[in-house]
This record gives sequence, C-alpha cells and structure tokens, in this order.
Amino acid sequence: MATTAKTPSVPRPVAPRPSGLRRLSGAGRLVGWLDDRIGFRALAPLVRKKRVPVHRHSIWYYLGGMALFLLVLQICTGVLLLFYYRPSAEGAFESVQFLMAEVKFGWLIRSIHSWGANLMVLTLFVHLFSTLLLKAYRRPRELTWISGVVLFGLALGLGFTGYLLPWNELAFFATRVGTEIPAVFPVVGDFLKETMRGGEDVTGATLTRFYALHISVLPGAAILVVALHVLLVQRHGMSVPPSVKRQETAPRTVPFFPNFLLRDLVGWLLALAILASAAAFFPAHLGEKADPFAPAPSGIKPEWYFMFMFQTLKMLPARIMGLHGELIGVLGFTIAGVVLVLLPFLDRPLSDGRHREVWRYLAIFALIYVVVLTVIGYSVDPTR
Ligand code: HEM
Repeated sequence: MATTAKTPSVPRPVAPRPSGLRRLSGAGRLVGWLDDRIGFRALAPLVRKKRVPVHRHSIWYYLGGMALFLLVLQICTGVLLLFYYRPSAEGAFESVQFLMAEVKFGWLIRSIHSWGANLMVLTLFVHLFSTLLLKAYRRPRELTWISGVVLFGLALGLGFTGYLLPWNELAFFATRVGTEIPAVFPVVGDFLKETMRGGEDVTGATLTRFYALHISVLPGAAILVVALHVLLVQRHGMSVPPSVKRQETAPRTVPFFPNFLLRDLVGWLLALAILASAAAFFPAHLGEKADPFAPAPSGIKPEWYFMFMFQTLKMLPARIMGLHGELIGVLGFTIAGVVLVLLPFLDRPLSDGRHREVWRYLAIFALIYVVVLTVIGYSVDPTR
C-alpha cells in the first residue's frame, strides 16, 4: 500500500476583520447568505407593519390561523401514514391494521390524522359562520370569501375521500350511499355516479380514485388556494365588523408580530393537546374489512359534517310536486352553495349605504338548520 509523506501544516492567513463589523454566529451567517440570494428580509417591514384590531369580536380572528395549523398537521401526519398505506382493495385494510398494531406510534399518527380532520372541519364551520356573521365577506374581501368557500369544499372533499381509504365495512357502505346521491340528477346523474366510483359499484377502482384525489389533487389544490387566501388577507388586513365601526372611537390595534402570533401559538398548542388526548383516549376505529357482497349493516351514517344533508334527504317525502324528493333536496343544497359563493355580490349596499337585513337572518337560519338537522340525525333510531 502506498504511503503519503506528511507535509508540515502551514497556518493559513486570516483576513483582517473590518473594525465595527459585528461577529456573526454560524446561523446568522447562513441567514445572511440566504438573504443575499433570496431577499426575504424585504418582507420584514410588511410583517412589522401588520396590526390586528382589538374589540369584542377579536376572538374570531384566531380561527383562520387555527385552520392553517390543522391543515399543515394533516399534511404532515398524512405523509407519515403514506409510508405504510397500500391503496388497493386487497391490501388497504391489512396495511392499516398493521400500522395500528405493529408500527411504533402508528396508532397515534393515524388517530391524530383522523381526529385532526374532524377538528379542521369544525374549525372551518366556525370560521365560515363567524366571517359570515361579522360581514367580513363584503368589499374589498369578495375574493377572500370565495377562496374560503372553495377551501371549505376542498376540506369536505378530503373528508369524504379519506373516509374510504381504510376499506372497512362502515366506510365502504357510507361511500356507497354517498356516491349514489348524484344519480338523482336527470340525464347526467348516472354519469356523475360512475365517474365518482370508477364503475357501476364501489370497488377497488373507487379506492384508487379516492386515493389519488385524497393524497394529491385535493391537498395540492388546497395549498394553492390557501396561499391565495392568506395573501389576500395580508393585502386587505383584518376587517372591523360594522357594529364596531359604528362606535365613535376606532378600535385599538396590536402588532401581528409578535403579539398576535404568540396568542395564535397558544391556540395551536391547545389544539395539539386536545388532539393528542383524543387520540390517546379514543384511538381511531378500524372495525371489519369491507365485504362488498355482505348485506349493508343497519344504521349507515356519514361523517358528522355531512349529517345535516343526509338527514334532510332522508326526511323528504319520496315525491314532491311530481318530482323525486331527493332531487329537490340535492337541488336545494346546490342552490344554497351557489348563493354562499356569490354572497358578497348579493349583499350589496343600498343607495343610503345600508345593507338588507335579510342576509343576516338567512345566515342565522342556516346555522340553526345545520345544528338542528345534525342533532336529529344522531338522535333518530339508527335502524330506521
Ligand atoms: C383551510 C381553510 C382555510 C384557511 C387555512 C384559512 C385561513 C385564514 C386566515 C389565516 C385568515 C386571517 C385570520 C382570520 O380572520 O381568522 C383568514 C381570514 C378570512 N377567511 Fe379564511 N381560511 C380558510 C377557510 C375559509 C373559509 C371556509 C371561509 C368562508 C367561506 C373563509 C373566509 C375568510 C374571510 C372572509 C377572512 C377575512 C376575515 C377578516 O378580514 O376579518 N376562510 N382565513
């Protein structure tokens, strides 16, 4: 083996430090190096300028940040689940079973993902109704509102598609019921149903479709729309509700950084603690593997956030004015969705600058409707 002769080490000349220059830590130098190339320090004045109004409704301002935190948590836990999940009718159930029983903390990650989905939808319901009742959708926040409604739809889509992935009995039959609903539309109904299912019935093809939607299309779209939504919030700042604006003195404001963000952080830690406790005390269920040839178990129920629609369709008579009752129900919800999107353009100021009260009453009615129908859905006999 060849040996190399040792060369005496020559001390390298040290560049003289210009006087007055502060000694930078390794991290500081790295940040400086990155900033020279990216220029992110230009954002600092924007962050320093942002202020949040303080008044009796300020508590609702925390919900958007909470939704953002939960979305990030869902993406992180979802990616971890992907390391073990197998998207096929033959392997999905077994892979989730393995994850729950054999993988270290697999049960915890799955349970946090499952509880996190519920908490995120709940947070979005409250965020939607609070911005609705505080009139935050009015000019110039029309696009903030519309992007929010799209995000709400995406979150419901993520919930619906994710529910099927463990391929257990309950999810299988609930998806069969859910994907049957668009079939009530004349002409395009069967096409819609078969497109959702990837065939006549819920099969492995449906699972592949839902998987693609759940792990790439819907989260990808959500990330893009959230970026737009948050950008618009930065552009317009936080709205002050009309009832606060009418007061003689303008509300005081606090800096977003660090005051508001630190309080946001407290909320996020609280949410994490709630999720970890829920996951530890009530881990996510798995139940039996789906058997497409078995009879549907009695009392199939959708996720709680679809319950008000499910219960409405169940309570409608079979025929209304010669039309299929379910069709009337589905059309009703479609129209309600369109009204929700277009609300900023429907609730225009009158010539004297005031607004019609009807939108406030409709919003309160919608809120009561969702709560009451959900409660009825859970209190009726599941075998009926
Ligand atoms: C993943 C979904 C969502 C995320 C991450 C998100 C995030 C945020 C954030 C960070 C804010 C600023 C703080 C706040 O007001 O709470 C905000 C404001 C707002 N959001 Fe959302 N949001 C989401 C969904 C929605 C939905 C479903 C709606 C309603 C349809 C909505 C409507 C609004 C409006 C109108 C504002 C402005 C509030 C104001 O200026 O007072 N957002 N959102």
